[in-house]
Amino acid sequence: MSDIAALFSPLKLKSLTLPNRVVMAPMTRSFSPGGVATPDVAAYYRRRAENEVGLIISEGTGVRRPASLNDPNVPRFYGDAELAAWKTVVDEVHAAGGLMAPQLWHVGAVRSRDKDWSPPGPYDSPSGIFSPGKRFGEGMTDEDVADTIDAFATAAAAAERLGFDAVELHGAHGYLIDQFFWSSANARSDAYGGETIAARGRFAADILKAVRKAVSPDYPVIIRLSQWKQQDFAARLAETPQEMQAWLDPLVDAGADCFHCSQRRFWEPEFPDVHPDLNFAGWAKTLTGKPTITVGSVGLSGEFIGAFMGESSKPASLDDLLRRLDRGDFDLVAVGRALLQDPAWARKVHEGRTDQLTDFTRDALGVLA
Ligand SMILES: Cc1cc2nc3c(=O)[nH]c(=O)nc-3n(C[C@H](O)[C@H](O)[C@H](O)COP(=O)(O)O)c2cc1C
Repeated sequence: MSDIAALFSPLKLKSLTLPNRVVMAPMTRSFSPGGVATPDVAAYYRRRAENEVGLIISEGTGVRRPASLNDPNVPRFYGDAELAAWKTVVDEVHAAGGLMAPQLWHVGAVRSRDKDWSPPGPYDSPSGIFSPGKRFGEGMTDEDVADTIDAFATAAAAAERLGFDAVELHGAHGYLIDQFFWSSANARSDAYGGETIAARGRFAADILKAVRKAVSPDYPVIIRLSQWKQQDFAARLAETPQEMQAWLDPLVDAGADCFHCSQRRFWEPEFPDVHPDLNFAGWAKTLTGKPTITVGSVGLSGEFIGAFMGESSKPASLDDLLRRLDRGDFDLVAVGRALLQDPAWARKVHEGRTDQLTDFTRDALGVLA
């Protein structure tokens, strides 16, 4: 294995000093009945904080809209009981010396997997489209858009008030914010739609501006983005570096401090014709100068969509990841399944106990270990 010192060196992100570069990726666990995180959820995050995770990003947590979530067991980020539960979570993480950001989420036009359950209001979406040819959700009115922007800002203010160390907006994977970015789901003819990625990015930019206003100037605001969509793994918002610049620059102007660049496999080059070896996080950092987080199959042989289908993954070398980190392609490394499987993954890697790393199996999805 190459030198792991770079992975365990500190990083300053606005007001925050992270002790190392290991970030727990946001992972929905559906262990919060009625939308309220339980003491078991707090203990689950605390175990990661006790074991050298530099920054924990929570599972996606719903903002105040009737259909921001499509699962009643996913925690909400509004309401007295819900926020009190989150306060317990962040206090536990801090007590163990950790840092934490909630991932603020609105699912948009992604229906519940449970056919017997519906949210208490219509599913919001830019244009009532789930994917090309598939209608779902209600095209949002101006009022809905304004209220949703306000809901994200209110949640961000609550995150800072409760003591969370940063906040992340879920702008990836074909959920609401990403549906606005994506021409196949955004057919609006108002100021939130249009031919260009910058025009379709206005919704994200307005959310970022409102969030920025709602939190302290130094409070780190992260946005997670992806080219791929759950609706279409091959979808792309930016086909060229120029298009990526047009996508990201307005988000920087609106107040994003850090880009969390979601790939299913971190080693895949973003624009192979232009650079054979630079991934999404590498391009985002090059184009904007902002710190970036990479993610996708770190430390594992297989990728995460396969894991939902029951595929197991074996521990894999970190050499290529460390080479890129050393080269300065990105600043932080998010780890999903490896940390879901094993709360001590980061500590084991730091201490060179890689022989103690285990396979990721689907069984891990069923428990809060
Ligand atoms: C069980 C599970 C739940 C997930 N939930 C979320 C989520 O709530 N928000 C999000 O942005 N990504 C979510 N993801 C994606 C992960 O954050 C991460 O990008 C993905 O698992 C790839 O990282 P990995 O290969 O290290 O697992 C989830 C992944 C898994 C396995």
